Parts: sequence; C-alpha cells; structure tokens
Amino acid sequence: MAHRYADIEEHDPDADWSLPGWLYTDPEYFEVEMARVLRPSWQIVCHQSDIARPGDFHTLDYLGESVIAMRGQDGEVRAFTNVCRHRAMRLVEGPTGCAKKLVCPYHAWVYETDGRLSGVPMKGDYPALRLEDNGLAALDVEIWRGFVFVRLQDDGGPSVAAMMAPYDHEIAPYRFEDMRCISPVRLRERQVNWKNVGDNYSDNLHIPVAHDGLTRLFGKSYAIEAQPWVDKMSGGVVDRVSDNFWERFYQKHLPRAHHLPEANQRLWLYYKLWPNMAFDLYADQIDFMQWLPLTPTTSVLREMAFALPDDRREMKLVRYANWRINRVVNAEDTWLIERVQQGMASQSYAAGPIGASEVCLRSFARKIRHIIPEARLHRAPAPGWSRRPRQV
Ligand code: FES
Ligand SMILES: [Fe+2]
Repeated sequence: MAHRYADIEEHDPDADWSLPGWLYTDPEYFEVEMARVLRPSWQIVCHQSDIARPGDFHTLDYLGESVIAMRGQDGEVRAFTNVCRHRAMRLVEGPTGCAKKLVCPYHAWVYETDGRLSGVPMKGDYPALRLEDNGLAALDVEIWRGFVFVRLQDDGGPSVAAMMAPYDHEIAPYRFEDMRCISPVRLRERQVNWKNVGDNYSDNLHIPVAHDGLTRLFGKSYAIEAQPWVDKMSGGVVDRVSDNFWERFYQKHLPRAHHLPEANQRLWLYYKLWPNMAFDLYADQIDFMQWLPLTPTTSVLREMAFALPDDRREMKLVRYANWRINRVVNAEDTWLIERVQQGMASQSYAAGPIGASEVCLRSFARKIRHIIPEARLHRAPAPGWSRRPRQV
C-alpha cells in the first residue's frame, strides 16, 4: 500500500485552491476520509510515564473504536482493541487503570497484560476453541520521545519519528522523555468537521486579525513553515509590556528553564503533525492536542499538558498564566471555526483561494487531494461515488 504516499510532493494542479466546502459536511466523503486518512494515522494515547508500572493502561476512544495501551508484566507497552473475543464486550471502562489481568465483565474470559487469552470458564463447552488464536486484537504501537502512539491500520504511511525528523534537533533539548503529565486528558466537543480545527491551527493570516493577545505577546514575529508531514509555527515573546494582566504576568515572571538554550527561553514553538495532532512547546510546559472526528460536522478536542518536574512557585504560577492566555485564544478560535463550519455548509460556497504564503494549508490540502482524488471536485459528486469506479 506504500503507493498511496508515493509522489505526494508532485505538482498539484489545484494547488491554489482550498479544500472545497462539501468535504466538511458530506457523510459519504467522511466515511472515505475515515478509512483512508484517519484509521491509518498515528494517534497519541499518553506518555510512557502515565503507564509506568506493569498492568497500567490508558484508553483512547475514536472512530468508533476503543483502544487500550497497556504495559505488560514484561515491561513492554502494547496496544489492543478494547473488545472481548467472545461476544465483543468492552473489557475496561474509563480513561486509565491498572490490572493484573483483564477479566471480561460479561462471561469472565481472562486476558493477560500482553493480550493473551489465558482463561475461559466452561472451556469444554467450546471444543474447537484454541486460546492461542483468541488473544486481544493487537495494534501497532510507536514510542516517540516518550509518548505512546497507536494506529488502527498500517497503510505504509510514515512513522511519527519520520514525520518529526526535520525538527528532531529542535525538540531534543526539551527532554520530552523525562516529562510528566501536569494536567490529565481534557475532552471538548466542537460543532465542526475535524479539518476545520486543523485548518485553523495552520492558518497564520488570522493571528493579527483575530487574536489580540497573541499579537500583544509576539508582535509580528509569528513564522510558519511546512515540511512534508509536519508544520512549524514559532514566535518570540516580545519585551514590550502587555496591558493584559495574565500576559504581563507571563512576560514578567517566566523563570529560566535550565534545560533550554538561551534562544528558547522566550520562544513559543508549535508543530502540527499529519493529519490531526499538534503540540505547543513553551519554556514552561508542552501541550499535546488532537482533534478527533465524531461525525461529518462534530469533533472532539483531546488535550493534555506535560512538563519537567519543577517545584518553583513562580513556575507553577507561570504555567497557570499560560493556561489563562491560551483559554482566551481557544475561545476566539472556537468562535471562528464554528462560523466557518456553517459557511462551508452554504450552497453558495464551493472552494476558496489559498495565498502563496499559506504554506501549511497548501501542504494539508495537497495530501488530502493525493489520497482522495475526488477532493479536487468543487461540488459533491452524485451519492454512491465512493462505490463506483473512479472518475477523477
Ligand atoms: S463477551 Fe467477554 S467473556 Fe463473553
Ligand atoms: Fe487561532
């Protein structure tokens, strides 16, 4: 299946167009996108320190699947679908837990922490049942710089490490591997197609227009660039004192991060990974977020924050100030994307132009058009298109 990603950088005849509006609302397109874009993509579950002891697990529910990432008695991290092999019962509830064995709540089949089926009550009732063929369905796992990623399907796409390779040297000093969770997973539903969240995160032109706070903090220093599988944005906190309390607090009190070089002390970095994940790097902490589709027109933002252990009082307060600043930015973005979503559904809207400087939006749209050629059409094709031979 590697051909899906071959020639992805080739000339794109539609390069100056945005993705058309129907891709943000259409149920048939949504199904195709889930199968070809989201199911094969890597998704973050947690940090390896969140499942430090044998039997610790974290779950991730998305695309109608529930996934368990679990540390086995042997210390290995594995991932399985949260589905009993007997009658498909969900094995564990909730986002986290620790178990010596996974015992199904329906008929008490027993699975080991490595996924092997080890116990079946009334085993003689199933003469043909072989325990060794009925372990939990295993999924691919990648540990990248201490973070645990899973994917539902392998279609030959790049690893997280390969996607991030162009920026690995920039990230190394932050010591992700040594970080700990400082705020547990938060889920927030949004009335938008998942791509609207990502498009907004890739959109540099709106920052001076719609985010007064970011403009006060960074002036005009915001920069963007696109690599094949990752976008980067960056800005330096300006010295000019903001008139907003929390922004001023952050500017004034951000303590030295001893592990970071001088140039990074007041730098905000942001990396967006294909297709629906991003992380913010600040001198005081990092935030990880993903935007998971629920339906063609609804999504859930899944966010968590990590930092190196630091007990300094000013560091705690600055992390709080950072959260207050970002809460305002998030509210501004939510207001924008929910209105864009409504506009995408208008009969009057087909596709819009993309500016030469909008390199991140261009890069995302190029990949989508490469994987799903129908995404080039400005209007939705007649229903059933995904089951007919290709016309594009
Ligand atoms: S469904 Fe799990 S034991 Fe029956
Ligand atoms: Fe924004």
